[in-house]
Amino acid sequence: MRTQVCIIGGGPSGLLLSQLLHLSGIDSVVLERHPRDRVLSRIRAGVLEWGTVEMLEKAGAARRMQAEGFPHSGIRLAARNRGFRIDFNDLIGRRIMVYGQTEVTRDLYAARDAAGGRIVHEAQGAALHDLGDRPYVTYVRNGTEHRVDCDFIAGCDGFHGVSRASVPKAALRRFERVYPFAWLGVLSRTPPVSEELIYANHPRGFALCSMRNDTLSRYYIQVPADDPIGKWTDAAFWDELRRRLPQEAAESLVTGASIEKSIVPLRSFVAEPMQHGRLFLVGDAAHIVPPTGAKGLNLAVSDVFYLHEALAAFYEGDRLAPERYSDRALARVWQATRFSWWMTSLLHRFPDTDDFGQRIQEAELAHLERSAAARTQLAENYTGLPY
Ligand code: APR
Ligand code: PHB
Repeated sequence: MRTQVCIIGGGPSGLLLSQLLHLSGIDSVVLERHPRDRVLSRIRAGVLEWGTVEMLEKAGAARRMQAEGFPHSGIRLAARNRGFRIDFNDLIGRRIMVYGQTEVTRDLYAARDAAGGRIVHEAQGAALHDLGDRPYVTYVRNGTEHRVDCDFIAGCDGFHGVSRASVPKAALRRFERVYPFAWLGVLSRTPPVSEELIYANHPRGFALCSMRNDTLSRYYIQVPADDPIGKWTDAAFWDELRRRLPQEAAESLVTGASIEKSIVPLRSFVAEPMQHGRLFLVGDAAHIVPPTGAKGLNLAVSDVFYLHEALAAFYEGDRLAPERYSDRALARVWQATRFSWWMTSLLHRFPDTDDFGQRIQEAELAHLERSAAARTQLAENYTGLPY
């Protein structure tokens, strides 16, 4: 098989890239190692920057999001069981969209299907060859080996994919911070405790209240990285969440049976550069942020923005455009990496947080409450820096 761009990974990055390339008249094939229902069973974050919303519009995959998503014009922060609001719309005239990433992925599959896009599911053992000049990818499906010849390979295969691992070790520089705690997340069929997200600092640890819709809530609490999930019965989770929330939220919290419960470690990671020969790394394949700033999917989308522009320019005759992808993408990646690290540092209890450290966090949150300048900085980053 021959295509212009071979895309490894059928997550949101790979699907969005494939769709935008198609709209620019560029052919691609997506190789995904799992069946589609498995990809669509992953529960991930649910906050979209407006730039992400606009990219989905551009891709023709925004109709359901516009009907079923929830635009929010602010979030709440809390410390010492007291909350306050950050109004993005007042501060900078911007909003965010609450819409689950799983739904984004579903909508992108629908858009690719409608356009007759080629997506190969259960493509096993993908291997990348000749990245320097005439790249090709081999994979096995139903016991038969296949080969895709292409001009470029887009590595959209997430943190544990094969793309980054195909770059010689010496050609990539890795930057990493592993945080000494994890998030325990619960999805429950209960009305959200608050109309807007609540990010809470507490001496017992961080807590987050999020939602998918009027009857589906998503909550998280910080837990030790080595906590077994079995330790967290629903009752233990709700008790701990309630302790960390602002008082009025704790009093009105509606609890119920969890329909999903999982523990995720927190990590910051960036690989530089995001290109090796004719291979480009995109999204989680190149970088990971802790979920505190809600940046994971949004960064993947900005990578796709830059790569789509570079490839479209290449096929219009600007042969050097792809060489600029890595620097352009990384500039924004590092901004989001800094912001996610800062939100994580501000809101979590670290093993070495003592009473002094706790008061410093509370003082910073009090400053955010009082200072429009401080709130504006948060609002600019949370709603998404310009591409
Ligand atoms: N061959 C083919 N497909 C692969 C391979 C491989 N060797 N390895 C991984 N994949 C697939 C995975 O099964 C997955 O469907 O690549 C896809 C990668 O998708 P994501 O992990 O969702 O990564 P990405 O599309 O970059 O989206 C980034 O996902 O993890 C979140 O926080 C992150 O929201 C962000 C978003
Ligand atoms: C979520 O809704 O799952 C969510 C929201 C905001 C975050 C992280 C996760 O920062």
